[in-house]
Amino acid sequence: MSLVGYDKHGSVAVLTVNNPPVNAMSPGVPKGICEGIARANGDDEIKAIVLIGGGRGFIAGADIRYFSLPWPEGEETFKHIIAAFEASPKPVIAAIHGHALGGGLETAMACHYRVIVPTANVGQPEVKLGFPPGAGGTQRLPRLAGLVPALDMIVTGNPIKAPKAAALGIVDQVIEGDLLDGALAFAKDKGTQDGGHRRTRDIGIVCEDKGIFEAKRKEIARRARGMRAPFACIECVEAAVELDFDAGVKRERDIFTECVTSDESKAMRHVFFAERAANKIPGIAKDLKPRTIAKAGVLGAGTMGGGIAMNFVNAGIPVTIVEQSQEALDRGMGIIEKNYAATVAKGRMSQEQMDGCMAHITPSVEMADLGDADMIIEAVFETMAVKKEVFAKLDQVAKPDAILTSNTSYLNINEIAETVPGRDGHVLGTHFFSPANVMRLVEVVRTDNVSDENLVTTMDIGRRMRKLPIVTGVCHGFIGNRMLEGYFGEASIMVEEGARPLHIDTVMFGYGMAMGPLAVMDLAGLDIGWSKRKDAGDGTAADDRGAYVSNRLCEMGRFGQKSKRGYYIYEEGSRKPAPDAEVDQLAADAAKHFGLERRDFTDQEILERCLYPLVNIGADILAEGHALRASDIDLVYINGYGYPGWRGGPMHWAGSVGLKTVYEKVCAYHESLGFDHWKPSALLKRLAEENMTFEDYDKENAG
Ligand code: 3HC
Ligand code: NAI
Repeated sequence: MSLVGYDKHGSVAVLTVNNPPVNAMSPGVPKGICEGIARANGDDEIKAIVLIGGGRGFIAGADIRYFSLPWPEGEETFKHIIAAFEASPKPVIAAIHGHALGGGLETAMACHYRVIVPTANVGQPEVKLGFPPGAGGTQRLPRLAGLVPALDMIVTGNPIKAPKAAALGIVDQVIEGDLLDGALAFAKDKGTQDGGHRRTRDIGIVCEDKGIFEAKRKEIARRARGMRAPFACIECVEAAVELDFDAGVKRERDIFTECVTSDESKAMRHVFFAERAANKIPGIAKDLKPRTIAKAGVLGAGTMGGGIAMNFVNAGIPVTIVEQSQEALDRGMGIIEKNYAATVAKGRMSQEQMDGCMAHITPSVEMADLGDADMIIEAVFETMAVKKEVFAKLDQVAKPDAILTSNTSYLNINEIAETVPGRDGHVLGTHFFSPANVMRLVEVVRTDNVSDENLVTTMDIGRRMRKLPIVTGVCHGFIGNRMLEGYFGEASIMVEEGARPLHIDTVMFGYGMAMGPLAVMDLAGLDIGWSKRKDAGDGTAADDRGAYVSNRLCEMGRFGQKSKRGYYIYEEGSRKPAPDAEVDQLAADAAKHFGLERRDFTDQEILERCLYPLVNIGADILAEGHALRASDIDLVYINGYGYPGWRGGPMHWAGSVGLKTVYEKVCAYHESLGFDHWKPSALLKRLAEENMTFEDYDKENAG
């Protein structure tokens, strides 16, 4: 069946792209469009041509899978479509609904005219895949929209809605009623006009200030650190100003070709498909419908509970938040209010919207007020005894079929579920990240007995909260925090061996992490680990390797940023970490205590010792089935732990290093250092020996 339909509506030919689900430009689509244009131009009855998408949208751009696959020999491409449009004596009109993204927008811009429904989006999201637009987008968009808006759209990759596209001149008319009817009327009108029709390439570009390019580079310097694609986008738009149209298109194509084969683009395409795969849970039917969650409850209005309550409201679900005292409740509600007010102050929400959100949060000190909630998230203190007590109380008041979840960071949720046997299948984990209203990740912890329906419902709620829910099994720290122990552990161990905190953090920041590990520890609070160590031992916080400096800092009241001192010193009102000689001395004491010879570290050793434990532990988690796929682990690290998306996540990155190299180093560090996080994973060993990557493993498992 042809991927592009051809119909005659009086004097207008309508070409309909039918390539579900999103009308990507897969092989066959460009060919179908070119044939349709030729046919229409050969038919004297036809005066104009409409290009429209069947199904959900116009065209979502190039078929991303083909950036890693050979394009069929001799098959038409964007180049041929665009040439056919521009050579067409009859006007070609793009009729846009849903989305015109990437090559979809480039196709539309190469048409003579564009009409659009008010709900549609247009955008050039290529930068999010690690390359600039490659079918003339960087040359045509500035001609239609003006330089500054075009530069912004291309560099951020964010789409804009139809009314804005119309205001910028990217589209010619917004169609309020039926799109095809509106497009046909528009086309008939254009078809009767004499003379040539306007081609986007012939529009001049006005550049009042060439300084915009340098200013844009400066603006994105920190956010895009280490990346090539956003800067490549700027270069391409700059070419639109510097060169004539054809030379600009050639320059864009050269830069696109260079970027598309880069590690950065491979990593970002991996992330694109990883996010889509994460929604799928093997063994659960795709059509299993989530339950309706009309009302929600949150227990605990502390750091996490408040943000979680906001998430429910943002998903349109009214929520009751319960605290153990009026004072704690007032404090929690005050923080929620402050958070919304900050969003209003930034202009991202109106006062009315804020009032509406606040009205959907019911504060209470009565657990019984959770009696009408369909889903309740517990976010009280992190001790098993408190959690069990709270679940026993919830058991008394919650609806019989309410979904009960724990936000625990480490505790065994199977054990918590066992305390409410009458609620078999209804208890699981939702591990949000701090700040819970901001961070995109939520680990959905699949207990042994949770029903498929309740798991699917919890994933759905996560998505409705605009989060990225990732399924994880029950194990200490789930996916993210379990791996983090190796990462933080090695950073602290290296400090005892002579590595300066600032050196470690600079290397990891340079690699692309949002912050270095020791700065993160200072931000989270060193007292958290300290009190965990005290709870686990005889109350004296065992001076294990890696804990010595942190224990001493806590004994001195240096808990990190909150006390202005930790691994670093923070001046009043500043978050900038400054090195401290006292910490160097503590590290020297640690070396003496453990009988270590302090030494200098290379950047490479710091990198390996921070990152290879993540890969090694990640491989164990995967082999145990506590992660469904390696790509889920990558998403956890990117969305919850400040790992650079353009590196594709630790498991993908390890593949680019070579698993054989990683495995050999893990073995060597295990031999010299001996810590548990270096114990070589059997899966890592197998993949290294078989010359495979974690992506190969995911494919093997997906069958
Ligand atoms: N190529 C191949 N597959 C694509 C695709 C594309 N461009 N866009 C989406 N898909 C696939 C997804 O992988 C998914 O497959 P699955 O069901 O097997 O998991 C399916 O289509 C549905 O996708 P979503 O789940 O994302 O559907 P949504 O309705 O949530 O979103 C969308 C639709 C907004 C179009 C979103 O899919 C999207 O943003 N797609 C990518 C758009 C893009 O980046 N376009 C630029 C491509 S590069 C380009 O055009 C180069 C050019 O300059 C030369
Ligand atoms: P918090 O100490 O800020 O808040 C806990 C709140 O629970 C307090 O306000 C307390 O008064 C309330 N509470 C205690 N017992 C209660 C009861 N019986 N009934 C009603 N309220 C009760 O703690 P935080 O940081 O919000 O952590 C909550 C949970 O989230 C813990 O399990 C923690 O491990 C987890 N978590 C914390 C993260 C963080 O960064 N703070 C990140 C991810 C998970």
